[in-house]
Amino acid sequence: MTNKIAIIGFGNIANAIITPLLDKKLIQPENVYCVVNSEKSLENIKENYKYNINVYKSSSNDSKIIWDCQVKLLSVKPQHFNNISEANHIKKKDNLLVSILAGVSINKLSQKFPKHNCARVVTNIPITVGNGLTGIAWGENITNDQKQFTKKLFKYTSKIYEFSEDYLDIFLALTSSGPAIIALIIEALSDGGLSGGLPKKLSEELVMEMIIGTISLIKEKNLTTSELKNLVTSPGGTTISALRVLEKKSIRSALIESIISASNRSKEFN
Ligand SMILES: NC(=O)c1ccc[n+]([C@@H]2O[C@H](COP(=O)([O-])OP(=O)(O)OC[C@H]3O[C@@H](n4cnc5c(N)ncnc54)[C@H](OP(=O)(O)O)[C@@H]3O)[C@@H](O)[C@H]2O)c1
Repeated sequence: MTNKIAIIGFGNIANAIITPLLDKKLIQPENVYCVVNSEKSLENIKENYKYNINVYKSSSNDSKIIWDCQVKLLSVKPQHFNNISEANHIKKKDNLLVSILAGVSINKLSQKFPKHNCARVVTNIPITVGNGLTGIAWGENITNDQKQFTKKLFKYTSKIYEFSEDYLDIFLALTSSGPAIIALIIEALSDGGLSGGLPKKLSEELVMEMIIGTISLIKEKNLTTSELKNLVTSPGGTTISALRVLEKKSIRSALIESIISASNRSKEFN
């Protein structure tokens, strides 16, 4: 894919992105240069990571070498963004910087990394099991090769959507906050099963299998969600009785508002 890649912050998400590429031999371990903040993480990667990559502590002089890589993945927590600065010694312009930081705009990235063309990426936690969703917005001057490279970073672990940056907040609300909302729904429905006398584990398993089955039915039969709802809602039956309770409690409005709220919160960070 490329000769050398630098990873600034090698935590959970960077690991989930890079390891499959190493597994597929699309990148060679000796060409991966990563930097972490603590001695603990440094030792952990050296001792336990399955590939022998180059790893440095951010405070070390040696870590400056990462700025010589033409391609960088920025994957620190947003609160550590201010601690990262582009090295003065970079001669070449138009390097590539791919950021996965929530709420850091392309404008902020371009100001902080003037010798880089920037891509802003939003990905979600299921990327850690190769089932993620990734939204990408491109900064100015990014080349076609840089776009292709960025997409290759994510395509083995997620479905990719290219957007204007304006859509990234709502994309983040749906796809990054979404897993927590779904987890809450699973938990609440399982508690319903528990209340009806089912053991907790069984109840949770039934809910998850039901959700997987429902999604595959919608997809395979190409149904709209209303069609599916009508399919299982018979006059005076159990399902309409359940739906009536949800409508009374304004669940639909609560879910809509939850997504708008997450999106607004994301906009505040930009
Ligand atoms: N977690 C999610 O669900 C999720 C989903 C999508 C996107 N994201 C985004 O992905 C980014 C990373 O999240 P994560 O969950 O992978 O975080 P994480 O596991 O905490 O990893 C952050 C990494 O950054 C390193 N770091 C901290 N300060 C640094 C510095 N000054 N220089 C170099 N490295 C530094 C940390 O090193 P130490 O371990 O030594 O401190 C650690 O390796 C975040 O910006 C987040 O917005 C997260």
